[in-house]
Amino acid sequence: MTYKVGYIIGSLSSDSINRTLMQALMQVAPDDLEFSEIRIDNLPLYNRDLDSDYPPEATALKESIADSQAVLFVTPEYNRSIPGALANAIDWASRPYGKNSFDHVPAGVIGASPGGIGTAVGQQTLRGILSYCNARQMTAPEAYIQFDPDAYGENGEVKDPELQKILTDFMQEFRDHVARVLTVLPRD
Ligand SMILES: Cc1cc2nc3c(=O)[nH]c(=O)nc-3n(C[C@H](O)[C@H](O)[C@H](O)COP(=O)(O)O)c2cc1C
Repeated sequence: MTYKVGYIIGSLSSDSINRTLMQALMQVAPDDLEFSEIRIDNLPLYNRDLDSDYPPEATALKESIADSQAVLFVTPEYNRSIPGALANAIDWASRPYGKNSFDHVPAGVIGASPGGIGTAVGQQTLRGILSYCNARQMTAPEAYIQFDPDAYGENGEVKDPELQKILTDFMQEFRDHVARVLTVLPRD
């Protein structure tokens, strides 16, 4: 039995530290988690006029979420909030009215920034949005990662033992959270 986890990187940057963090998370994750990326970089801006005729990229986004048994958000903080690209993706996924892709979906939130705040404020904003979208969020542990480039290897392997433990515990708890939610709210 494996759990299909779709992950969303909140950054469109080619050298995103949050993408590096995601690589690290995949390296330390329990074996029964299977990961695939949910793209958000190709989406047009959400427009309610298109609710009756979704563009293919937005339909693909909703299908990717539907194909996932859980969604993990790995995102920067922008201006003490979430990046516009991520907000745009969530808007598409949450609509049309009555077809909210996040309804009952097990979800987790984590992020990295160069500064000590470690995306804490952005994560709280995202939690509020996901709460409104009725996602079943893991509330603990929280993980606010201050990014140190020296702590990661070429492919995201974690070189710092303390960070390795934090990320390993986070992914183990996320796995257990997903398993618990899917027990009562199964997704095929
Ligand atoms: C528009 C913008 C707003 C930002 N606002 C914040 C912020 O509120 N808090 C913070 O810690 N870092 C902020 N930063 C710095 C980001 O944490 C930093 O650029 C980080 O590398 C972004 O993550 P990424 O590498 O995954 O794209 C901001 C960066 C940009 C471009």
